[in-house]
Amino acid sequence: MNDVQVFDDSTRLAEMVAKQTCDALKDAIREYGSAVWVIAGGSTPLAAYKVVAEQYTDALGWSLVTMIMGDERIGPSDGPDNNWHQIDRILGSLPAKKIIPNSNQSAEDAASEYESQITKLPHSEKGVPRLDVVWLGMGADGHTLSLFPSHSSILPNAKLVIPVHDSPKPPADRISLTLRAMQGSVTAMIMATGADKKPAIKQALDGGHTPIALVANIVKTHRGKVSWFVDKDANPTD
Ligand code: 6PG
Repeated sequence: MNDVQVFDDSTRLAEMVAKQTCDALKDAIREYGSAVWVIAGGSTPLAAYKVVAEQYTDALGWSLVTMIMGDERIGPSDGPDNNWHQIDRILGSLPAKKIIPNSNQSAEDAASEYESQITKLPHSEKGVPRLDVVWLGMGADGHTLSLFPSHSSILPNAKLVIPVHDSPKPPADRISLTLRAMQGSVTAMIMATGADKKPAIKQALDGGHTPIALVANIVKTHRGKVSWFVDKDANPTD
């Protein structure tokens, strides 16, 4: 059973994602004493970050939350292409712990350094870090994080973080959490809007093999929950 929530507009979508995120983080803090939130790059989640910053700053013990990046572009950490740079301008004042990749180095060095940091997070019984809330965007080709169809990034890998080169979506060099890292997801929230993304959503729900489909399947087969937050134009049931 897929949880697909359809919204009339991106504002309502952002508000619901923010609410369900903070509810899930509070649940994790109650159960484990801490929580990990994997934040997503791209443009779709930005409105939801704004809702969190404006409405939930006092809603939970943010000092018990660790925010990590699902993926990052290699290049100047204060440049327009940098995912964290965009998000930090919205969420920077949240008193959460932040483990942010150092993008001012090669993808190999950034991935290796980030892996050594991520692997120190609390592990679940699945043998990988517990990721209480995972935000994911997706492209019209079904990519997510920096895992792309018909690309080496989607090959099985024992690592939690990999370097990515020749990304079909610029910039070319990135780092990304892997499918193996996604095994630790407790709640994955996929945000997708616009008619161009509808085919990839339908394909994922129908058991396709794009990265977003593989991630959703891995989360569910490892007893995690997958929720889709889409707008009317991307509604796969239409
Ligand atoms: C990135 C993102 C990428 C993004 C999708 C959707 O670094 O580019 O991680 O996977 O989530 O491309 O991007 P939009 O939300 O801007 O459509």
